[in-house]
Amino acid sequence: MMKIIINDIHLGFDLLGEVEPPIVLIHGFGLDRSIWRPLASSQLDNQMVILPDLRGHGESDAPKGPYRMSLLADDLAFLLEALGIKKAIVCGHSMGGYVALAFADQYPKMLAGLGLITTNANADLDDKRAGRYELMEETREKGAMAVADNLAPRLSYDQAVVNQAHQLISSTNPEGLDGALAGMAVRPDRTALLLEIRVPSLVVAGEADRITELNEAKAMAEALPEGQFLGIRGVGHMPMAEAPETLGEGLRTLITRVMR
Ligand code: MLT
Repeated sequence: MMKIIINDIHLGFDLLGEVEPPIVLIHGFGLDRSIWRPLASSQLDNQMVILPDLRGHGESDAPKGPYRMSLLADDLAFLLEALGIKKAIVCGHSMGGYVALAFADQYPKMLAGLGLITTNANADLDDKRAGRYELMEETREKGAMAVADNLAPRLSYDQAVVNQAHQLISSTNPEGLDGALAGMAVRPDRTALLLEIRVPSLVVAGEADRITELNEAKAMAEALPEGQFLGIRGVGHMPMAEAPETLGEGLRTLITRVMR
């Protein structure tokens, strides 16, 4: 477990393994880096893996938002620079995928490969954005439990995964949840960017995901010049917890493609 000061905040992260290329695994909204640890240790052997806690989450500071995806991408770039890493495979889960796309946009020279896991490249539609502002209000009144109760039951069909996510979200700093909701609400559409990302890319969908559209995931894989699609049957929004072996194999294949 480590902490570093970058971009004026303390950022929590894990640095595991030694084998290059380095791979970054970014958690989703309300979660933290612990969600990736079992997959990283069981599936990625001695690979160099960086697990950041996004600002507002886990052990990272939660200053006032909004946390624009561009700011979260800056945090990641500063972290990699501080670790002496010039290039990495950057993979993000859900909101972490929005951050990975912002990173691809802002730091293309630092991108060796891209993983988009149960996420999308669109901006919010009006009703989704309105829902985020309502949830921000509710979080100000009721705290993190408002987000945990809203989000966790939709993440998975596996009750143990739901319980773990509920526990993580409900212990997240409400200021952090507020900042992330505000940042996601104003994120730009990045579908046109996909056409410009010329590194090996993997798009992963849970075929039973209630949050992310399967068709949108397939369209992203088609738009990416080096995109590959992995659909995982019977899995919801949390493949790192629901199907770690299948996702691990997908990530190992991505690493091999980057090394070619
Ligand atoms: C996530 O799991 O990170 C969020 O559900 C993403 C979102 O709300 O768009």
